[in-house]
Amino acid sequence: MSDVTRSLVACLPGDGVGPEVVAQAVQVLQAVAPRFGLELTFETALVGASAYRADGHPFPQETQDLCDRADAILFGSVGDSSLDSLPRNLRPEQSLSILRKRYELFCNLRPTVIFPELRALSPLREDRLLPQVDMVIVRELAGGIYYGQPRGIEGEGEERRGFNTEVYRAGEVRRIAHQAFQLAQMRRRKLTSIDKANALESGELWRQVVNEVAREYPTVELDHLYVDNAAMQLIRRPSSFDVILANNIFGDILSDEASMLAGSIGLGASASLGTGRLALYEAIHGTAPDIAGQDKANPLATILSAAMMLRLSFNQPAAADLIEQAVAKTVAAGYRTPDLVQPGESTVGTRAMGTAVLTQCDALLAARG
Ligand code: IPM
Ligand code: MG
Repeated sequence: MSDVTRSLVACLPGDGVGPEVVAQAVQVLQAVAPRFGLELTFETALVGASAYRADGHPFPQETQDLCDRADAILFGSVGDSSLDSLPRNLRPEQSLSILRKRYELFCNLRPTVIFPELRALSPLREDRLLPQVDMVIVRELAGGIYYGQPRGIEGEGEERRGFNTEVYRAGEVRRIAHQAFQLAQMRRRKLTSIDKANALESGELWRQVVNEVAREYPTVELDHLYVDNAAMQLIRRPSSFDVILANNIFGDILSDEASMLAGSIGLGASASLGTGRLALYEAIHGTAPDIAGQDKANPLATILSAAMMLRLSFNQPAAADLIEQAVAKTVAAGYRTPDLVQPGESTVGTRAMGTAVLTQCDALLAARG
């Protein structure tokens, strides 16, 4: 009998910088996982524009079959503006919507952590980031206006209408609220729920259900913010937030805003957890077509997403901590991809950044013995 656990990771590198950053994260996982008794097998499949070009669909059957067999998905990025005139169901981004719905990945965790060495990169004055910015956005990911019916574009001329439906059922709000409260319980026990209850019925229901769920978590301090106010408070007092709960569209917008507090969207990791066993891990940045294929993209967000995979899918908190520490040490040692560089500093490429993290992982692994 061996105590090695075998698991399958589906790698979906996708488009733009996706393949470059995923390659670095895989390398880190391959170095770290076996040292914690976890044997990971990696299989790669096409997704997004590259899949459309090869197979005529952004989420081909073969990719779906791989995901169905997998224990976790490591996702790069998808998108290609030259395909924007395709019917919506064939566009690269559709692959993400399909994945999120097929595996009911309703719980998207987007942490914002600021590295002290990078505080000067933030568009905010440094004193605004003190005492410490450390928050997680919990974004509902399988409902709301992204999926609501009816939707479409219809009619002629000036009467043409484009429409979408923001709709939440109580049960959908309840399950994501439980996730957010439980996370808050493990952190600083503060939860801020975002809505637009002053203007929208969907927000009114959201707030009602969050208040109902709150009764089960008496140790968590809950407050509600309208989304417009939240956008302002994130800039005004970022270190006062702990866990932020938001619907699909508000979470999309606020998580990009929050990522900027750290100075670069190239640091934003994420996990998307579902009702089943399968979860998906991806950087929150996109394909960055302007730098794709040039060894310029920052791989840290994807590497940090891989750490979340070890913690949340494979129950290996020590392995996840080790990778996070290695990333922090790499940043502290002065390694900077172009998005992180400040005047007078030299830059490294995607591969060199990945190698630097790997070196730090090796040192930390050696220290563990
Ligand atoms: C994200 C992205 C996607 C979203 C796009 C690519 C459809 O912005 O994951 O945040 O809006 O969910
Ligand atoms: Mg987004």
